[in-house]
Amino acid sequence: MSHLHAVPGPGETGRVHRSGSATSVRVEAPGKVNLFLSVGAPGADGYHPLTTVFQAVRLVETVTARRQSVDAHGTVTMALEEADPVVPTDASNLAVRAALLLAEVTGVKEGVDLLVRKRVPVAGGMAGGSADAAAALLACNHLWGTGMDHAGLVDLAARLGADVPFSLLGQTAVGHGRGDRLTPLMARGTYHWVFALAATGLSTPAVFARFDELAADSGTTPATTEVPEALTAALRAGDPVALAPALHNDLTEAALSLRPELAEVIARAEKAGALRAIISGSGPTVAALVPDSAVAATVACALESSGLVAGTLRADAPVAGARAVG
Ligand code: C5P
Repeated sequence: MSHLHAVPGPGETGRVHRSGSATSVRVEAPGKVNLFLSVGAPGADGYHPLTTVFQAVRLVETVTARRQSVDAHGTVTMALEEADPVVPTDASNLAVRAALLLAEVTGVKEGVDLLVRKRVPVAGGMAGGSADAAAALLACNHLWGTGMDHAGLVDLAARLGADVPFSLLGQTAVGHGRGDRLTPLMARGTYHWVFALAATGLSTPAVFARFDELAADSGTTPATTEVPEALTAALRAGDPVALAPALHNDLTEAALSLRPELAEVIARAEKAGALRAIISGSGPTVAALVPDSAVAATVACALESSGLVAGTLRADAPVAGARAVG
């Protein structure tokens, strides 16, 4: 557990300002799958312009923000409900950075103890870290009673990471820019997913860097394309069979060149009855769209017994964005 001064201010550390009234606030925030991901050439800031369609899935991170005793002197601490050596709990964790940023912007002098329960695969291309940040922002905002409105939180979310605003919004949305400029998309029905997990994560910057190398090797300049009408029509109709062929991910080749074995995972999922399987975001999670929960069980079983994956998770979608649950 780390002890970080949120707003140190010499001589002020004992002056705790309490505006909220609850002693703890629990917030849930979802991970995501990209139904469509079109990637352009990186700009001067190194970020790649995107056109993407996010769908929030029922794999949910839970962040509990607890009020500290007065003698904690305005620190931000974070602990995991289940220890995971791959997840840092110091200032490099996006949830801690979210709390620190909110405290800095709003002038809150009080600290917070964050407790995080992880259900989204770590470094899996499903924005689990971003969901932690979204949940921490909302939980601290309630706990501290800052009065910051939703638009203000979305601004802070975009400063923390490209996928953080979507975890606040949830449901289904088109993302432009870095993926942080969002427009909600009309979607009917429920979509069933099976996620095939890899034993080790992939770094998002490494996948984007590989994407750039592959483009340079082929002498092409990538450009984003708009979301195809077939995809938005399938979502409007609530039709997973029509959605399947419209699923698309420009990072597929880059992720497969770093993890060639994922091609076999995709093939196994489709052979076992998935309507379509794709790399989720920057990978290495493979997301298999299935017609119903019976086929979900069959696909999960086939993947588990293939020896190709570290495990599977099943989830339906879309679900709401970050929300207080207690
Ligand atoms: O915004 P976030 O911190 O989640 O992004 C992680 C990394 O992924 C960035 O530092 C960048 O290398 C890469 N990225 C990108 N273009 C995007 C989103 C992320 O190149 N639109």
